[in-house]
Amino acid sequence: MSLDIRLLHPAFAAEVIGFDFAAPPERMPARAVRDAIHRHGVLVFRNEHPPTDEQHIAFSKLLGPIEQGNIIKVTGFDRRRVAFLELVDVGNLDPDGNIFPADHRRMLFRKGDRLWHADMSFMDNRATYSMLVGHEIPPEGGDTEFADMRAVYEDLPPEMQRLADSLAVEHSIWRSRALAGFPEPTGEELASRPPVRHRLAHVHNGSGRKALYIASHASHVVDWPLELGCGLLAELTRFATQPKFVYRHKWRFGDMVMWDNLSMLHRATEFEDSKYRRDMRRTTCREREIATADAGCP
Ligand code: OGA
Ligand code: MN
Repeated sequence: MSLDIRLLHPAFAAEVIGFDFAAPPERMPARAVRDAIHRHGVLVFRNEHPPTDEQHIAFSKLLGPIEQGNIIKVTGFDRRRVAFLELVDVGNLDPDGNIFPADHRRMLFRKGDRLWHADMSFMDNRATYSMLVGHEIPPEGGDTEFADMRAVYEDLPPEMQRLADSLAVEHSIWRSRALAGFPEPTGEELASRPPVRHRLAHVHNGSGRKALYIASHASHVVDWPLELGCGLLAELTRFATQPKFVYRHKWRFGDMVMWDNLSMLHRATEFEDSKYRRDMRRTTCREREIATADAGCP
């Protein structure tokens, strides 16, 4: 089965028209979705109403092993607003449906989403696809931006490509949180997610193209002096997020936006988060089956 596709940007990102999230999962064109996400990196599905949480989860399960439960222990996240463990709540609403106070740890933690990142690059078993559904959209702001790390790699000078090919990078969730102003993590928080290492450039299996793999979680280059490694990562991130590599998604109620974390970076953008409600829920597929050691915190 093929999809009805409309391109959204000269280099990447496409809208899938008329997709039916209410169809039984066995009738869904999973293969065509996988081919399309590998090619376009970002897929936008416009819907009159958001898929239900059950439909969102069933669709995601067709595309790989999916995350279940909080992968990080964050103090103050004890009560969930959204019942399904498969859904990450990335909006600004507390369990009673009210806007969180600006200084709540939860709000500070989510500020990290406004830095360019790939979801879960701080895990050994990385995120492949993320699927984010817009249940409540602020009247202004709160767009999401994406940048294509394959186009970026191809645009790097050959000597920089060779350098990137040769290096490994350490990633930690606490790095991006520190950059975003999250308070010093507690011992328990730190222990719940130690740092991991990934190659700075990799072959994106879905498309066979090489891609940079950087993110705000990336703290430094392995075997390099700290400052030098941080400098290189900052420089690459600046290069990689020039406007020509970026697609900006303006949310509408009911949208599902899916992206490939192994070929894209993304970030949330500003909105008046103490004034407007934003209810966004995400599922996340992983590279491999999720081993117990890798699974959620209680
Ligand atoms: C995410 C994320 C961006 C946004 O859900 O992983 O980064 O705009 N979201 O909410
Ligand atoms: Mn994210």
